[in-house]
Amino acid sequence: MILLDGKQISADIKAEIALAVTEIKKEGKRAPHLAAVIVGNNGASMTYVGAKVKACELVGFSSTLIDLPAQTTEVELLAKIHALNDNLEIDGFIVQLPLPEHIDEQKILMAVHPDKDVDGFHPTNVGRMALDLPTFLSATPYGIMELLERYKVPTSGKHVVVIGRSHIVGRPMSILMSQKRPAGDSTVTIAHSRTTNLEKLTLEADIIVAALGIPEFLKAEMVKPGAVIIDVGITRVPDETKKRGYRIAGDVDFESVSKKAGYITPVPGGVGPMTIAMLLKNTLLAFGRNAS
Ligand code: GUN
Repeated sequence: MILLDGKQISADIKAEIALAVTEIKKEGKRAPHLAAVIVGNNGASMTYVGAKVKACELVGFSSTLIDLPAQTTEVELLAKIHALNDNLEIDGFIVQLPLPEHIDEQKILMAVHPDKDVDGFHPTNVGRMALDLPTFLSATPYGIMELLERYKVPTSGKHVVVIGRSHIVGRPMSILMSQKRPAGDSTVTIAHSRTTNLEKLTLEADIIVAALGIPEFLKAEMVKPGAVIIDVGITRVPDETKKRGYRIAGDVDFESVSKKAGYITPVPGGVGPMTIAMLLKNTLLAFGRNAS
């Protein structure tokens, strides 16, 4: 079994980005600048956004954290987004999801200018992705593709089963892996909560992307020996033995599945750190477009 070490690969990518930033600064230009908007105080979201801002510092980017109260109205949030769209000092920004219930998420994502949409969530960028055009790939699917590519995991002609059809992970993964591209050329099945006989599908899969958000859902008896297992789950599970009162669980029962898998991503230290590295990569791309 080979561990797909997202912590290591993301560190490599961040080092590459830091080197590019050093060159940019040597030319007398300002650093690439990422802004992140968070509304309310969802604990997990605050942790993720904190990690994104910290990663900016690490590679030499500028960063701005816009922390808005939970009762912020849709109109107020839209005004913030328009200001960020117009701010020439900011190359890209993200609005951390989920948003409070009184705010229409789709409306917000559509207000982000596609050229600053480093999360790749705007319909223009999703459409460009689906049509094989250059765009910002959303960070989690992009991170998984990069991990598969850097480990030279064979994907051409392989059968991939993606479990989960979310807009952020499952849907884009199913599209990317079917495309003619590095870590692509696969035959893809997308499974979801209405899929019947899921185990029959997963047992035939060469590669499984588990992105359904149910802790330890994928068990060893659902997996073919030698399969490639990508675990996108990050659920906080109450655990009194931990100081913070919870542990982070993936969608894969790592203990049993890792004994059978050919390759597997751990949780934590697999897909999670890759997401942050690819967000930085998208910001560098946005900067390059902005500066030229
Ligand atoms: N919530 C969960 N994942 C993400 C992500 O990749 N970007 C944003 N903006 N919100 C998220």
